[in-house]
Amino acid sequence: TYVVADNCIKCKYMDCVEVCPVDCFYEGENTLVIHPDECIDCGVCEPECPAEAILPDTDPEAEKWLEMNTKYAEIWPNITEQGQPPADADEFNGMPGKYEKFFS
Ligand code: SF4
Ligand code: F3S
Repeated sequence: TYVVADNCIKCKYMDCVEVCPVDCFYEGENTLVIHPDECIDCGVCEPECPAEAILPDTDPEAEKWLEMNTKYAEIWPNITEQGQPPADADEFNGMPGKYEKFFS
């Protein structure tokens, strides 16, 4: 599976949603997650994210985000269409420690 990492938080550009062939993204207040059991590992979303927030689970960084994606994909609603990203999304792109600061 692929996973959404913390740089999505408060960026939430949603380009990923547009390209996913199986609609396996789920939407929280300020980030998305991927449902690991639904992702078919096509890899199409990874280069589409302007925040480079999508990782394959083979990435050393992915482990901690896999748990978060698994948990919230079961709770949050499915998202199938790209919405409007936050107006200040670019200000948060690349900011370290977003999970600790802002995750909700
Ligand atoms: Fe969807 Fe493919 Fe990305 Fe998985 S890797 S979330 S199936 S676009
Ligand atoms: Fe997030 Fe990137 Fe998608 S910022 S909403 S994972 S395009």
